Amino acid sequence: SGPATVSPTGSPTGADQARMAQSGSHLTNAQGTRLHDTDHSLKAGPRGPVLLQDHHLREKIMHFDHERIPERVVHARGAGAHGVFQSYGTASAVTKAGFLAPDVETPVFVRFSTVVGSRGSADTVRDTRGFATKFYTSEGVFDLVGNNIPVFFIQDAIKFPDVVHAAKPHPDREIPQAQSAHDTFWDFVSLHTEATHHTLFFMGDRGIPRSYRMMEGFGVHTFRLVDAEGKTTLVKFHWKPKLGVHSLVWDEAQLINGNDPDFHRRDLADAIESGAYPQWELGIQTFPDTPDQTFEGIDLLDPTNIVPEELAPVQPIGLMTLNRNPSNFFAETEQVAFHVGHLVPGIDVTDDPLLAGRLFSYLDTQITRLGGPNFPQLPINRPHAPVNDMLRDGMHQTAVHRGVAPYQPNSLDGGCPFTAGADMGAYIETPVTVPEGRKVREAPESFSDHFSQPRRFWLSMSPVEREHIIGAYIFELGKCYEEAIRKRTLQVLANIDPELCSRVADGLGLPAPEPTVPLADVEPSPALSQVGGTWPVD
Ligand code: HEM
Repeated sequence: SGPATVSPTGSPTGADQARMAQSGSHLTNAQGTRLHDTDHSLKAGPRGPVLLQDHHLREKIMHFDHERIPERVVHARGAGAHGVFQSYGTASAVTKAGFLAPDVETPVFVRFSTVVGSRGSADTVRDTRGFATKFYTSEGVFDLVGNNIPVFFIQDAIKFPDVVHAAKPHPDREIPQAQSAHDTFWDFVSLHTEATHHTLFFMGDRGIPRSYRMMEGFGVHTFRLVDAEGKTTLVKFHWKPKLGVHSLVWDEAQLINGNDPDFHRRDLADAIESGAYPQWELGIQTFPDTPDQTFEGIDLLDPTNIVPEELAPVQPIGLMTLNRNPSNFFAETEQVAFHVGHLVPGIDVTDDPLLAGRLFSYLDTQITRLGGPNFPQLPINRPHAPVNDMLRDGMHQTAVHRGVAPYQPNSLDGGCPFTAGADMGAYIETPVTVPEGRKVREAPESFSDHFSQPRRFWLSMSPVEREHIIGAYIFELGKCYEEAIRKRTLQVLANIDPELCSRVADGLGLPAPEPTVPLADVEPSPALSQVGGTWPVD
């Protein structure tokens, strides 16, 4: 059975149609009628009133009036690029995903972003960076929607609106734009100590990357890979930049924000245009899929945890090269719709409660942002695999579907589209055993240690990275109006490390509190340091 979507009258669809949007040598209106003048309204005499009958004026202004769509509620500011992913085949041992088989090349589109700022905000602010990759595989679209920091602020998606409300500008004055230096942000992270690890990461150098080309990327959650025999392995995804991981220092970032707010966007586009194609290796850390889903005592379902690379080395599985800039920012970078639920056979999700909420959120927000349910038909979102779904009609439908029986089984449309088994490439959810228990709104006990991993991070930093972190806390907290918030944050820092706490306290002119929990007995993980990274970079 072939694809069920055809265009009206058999004319070109998708990318072809998009290219045709500006075909022909004459200026026309939207209906294709040639225009002789688009610079003057139709008037009753050159100095007379404009006539209501000017349908060209109406069409032109009407369309302009509706040019803007809502920006993303988070990650509004971004830059994208096309490229190719070349699989090494090494992941075949743990997954049947076709695009990870040996020597398979898959087209990709990547969008890098800041999280908090609006679409027009500056690039080199202190923030987490999004790193979202769409793989157009022959088995359907797979999206790896990650960040440049391997952990997240919260452990349960139900808190996502709260953390974003705290991080966005104050509702009364709408300041600060895209900066973390404000009371609501520090209020939130000092009251929600599960945010400590992520906060420490982005107070560190990763919060002000030198370039998108020099950032790591992380899937953050633990995913489940499935091989052809149905054997499962838990994994964490890592992108490792061939150029290494590099950051700005704070003063540079501040100057660049003023001089060139498009610094990261320009850097990416210029590099690709000049043929200096950025590259990342994709790697996985693998863990046995045990019933408790822990590894070396680390709860793999807690997205505020990393697994140190020394305990589970990152194994390279492929190489991504970004080699083509978008030709139209709106059509590609703005309209691209990523979703953690875009999965292909061989890649499945786990019960991480943050991931569960994301599986709902992306589709939901895109219905508003992209005006209805048909955004998968936009050229940038189209799968490169044949589509034969039973989804019909809706706002902005551009396909004219054949047949009369969009249900199955049916006996009217010459039989049904085939359904497939696992051996024919169907996506079948892994039949994992769901733990039994009472229905509750509470976190597991294993999510309650909020300080051991932040302490490991701190101990892993080189002296210069520690100085940057101390300076960042003094700067950011110095901007808070409420002293109570500064003091509460110092308490959090005391539970990570006495030196970190006392240096920041000195900078703020406040006393350093004593820890309220015993300091964790943890080993440093050199791979966390940008100076001590372990990845083999050519
Ligand atoms: C957008 C990453 C958690 C809701 C994004 C984007 C990235 C990302 C990279 C930008 C996608 C693009 O470039 O278009 C992450 C990571 C998370 C996380 C790594 C945690 C590990 C969440 C959670 C929610 C959420 C918990 C909600 C429950 C959204 C929404 C968008 C978004 C609504 C805008 C999507 C759009 O308009 O297309 N996220 N996110 N995210 N994220 Fe997340």
